[in-house]
Amino acid sequence: MHIKLRNLKRDYGSLHAVQDVSLDIPSNTIYGIIGRSGAGKSTLVRLVSMLEKPDSGEVYYDDERVDTLEGKALIEKRRHIGMIFQTFNLFSSRNAVGNIAYPMEICGMDKAYIRNRVSQLLALVGLEGRGDAPISTLSGGQKQRVAIARALACQPDILFCDEATSALDPQTTRSILALVKELQARMNLTVVMITHQMEVVRDACERVAVLDNGRVVEEGMVSDIFANPKSEVTKDFLSNLTNVKDSIVRWSSQSGRFTLRFRGGTTDEPIISNVSNETGASFNIRAAGVQHVGSEEMGVMVLDIGPDEQHVRAAVELLKKYGVSVEGDF
Ligand SMILES: Nc1ncnc2c1ncn2[C@@H]1O[C@H](COP(=O)(O)OP(=O)(O)OP(=O)(O)O)[C@@H](O)[C@H]1O
Ligand SMILES: [Mg+2]
Repeated sequence: MHIKLRNLKRDYGSLHAVQDVSLDIPSNTIYGIIGRSGAGKSTLVRLVSMLEKPDSGEVYYDDERVDTLEGKALIEKRRHIGMIFQTFNLFSSRNAVGNIAYPMEICGMDKAYIRNRVSQLLALVGLEGRGDAPISTLSGGQKQRVAIARALACQPDILFCDEATSALDPQTTRSILALVKELQARMNLTVVMITHQMEVVRDACERVAVLDNGRVVEEGMVSDIFANPKSEVTKDFLSNLTNVKDSIVRWSSQSGRFTLRFRGGTTDEPIISNVSNETGASFNIRAAGVQHVGSEEMGVMVLDIGPDEQHVRAAVELLKKYGVSVEGDF
């Protein structure tokens, strides 16, 4: 199911939580929405998932307008949606089976069908045999698996994940993202993944929209945005990623003024020595490594360029001609 948003707006008093958001979220993909705390991500998800009405603007699922639906039609349409959250939102009074069965009980499905479907779902999320476990005895990753099984119980077309991995450690995050990717492909889901972590976008999403102050400041293929970020917010997210990433080897305590990103094909070429030969600029490399962005490999290098501003300008210009993205203060 593809999702189309047109000029969505939502104010809370004088606060513009979502301002003029238009996006096209293709079907059968994982679409990321990244932004800092307070950027308006959760508000946007509530509008897109029909939990809340926009002040103005339109939401379409497969070209059918849904933000105006009311009553039974709204309830029926919401059956096509599954949601998971940072805090899992499970019933602590029910065990795993009881939680997964809940949405099917609400829909009045047959008891035998529910029992059968719950055991399928437990297997699907890797929790065979843990159905009787009280929720309090499960780890964070296991709780999120129960929440995923519950979200998928009624066979939705769309899965919204609002900071679904934010409360999990890096290893558990990776396993949950791997599960979401597998389920997306298997069930032809459209997944909308809300996050403030660039790692999540890098590891799971095909396209991403960057949200800041309620507006979309950048949108595109994740590999394009990593190679050539345009907005300050995006650059900020990416620089944090470079700093924490252990695939980057740092051999100088000094930070380096420029960050270069080399895409797929260019990583095999001797670009730095070519640029140095052609411009006479000198390069002092502080850190470097390779990052995997989706299925692409991307080289990252943190360095200084010398000896003077004239050489810096010539080198940066030539690097860009070679297709290298250059970030830093010029
Ligand atoms: N129901 C509400 N009433 C009043 N203000 C709200 C309401 N919901 C959100 N806001 C405000 O709207 C802005 C956007 O909030 P939102 O929760 O959408 O941000 P977010 O990007 O999801 O942030 P976080 O990463 O912290 O979850 C914030 O300034 C928030 O305080
Ligand atoms: Mg939020």
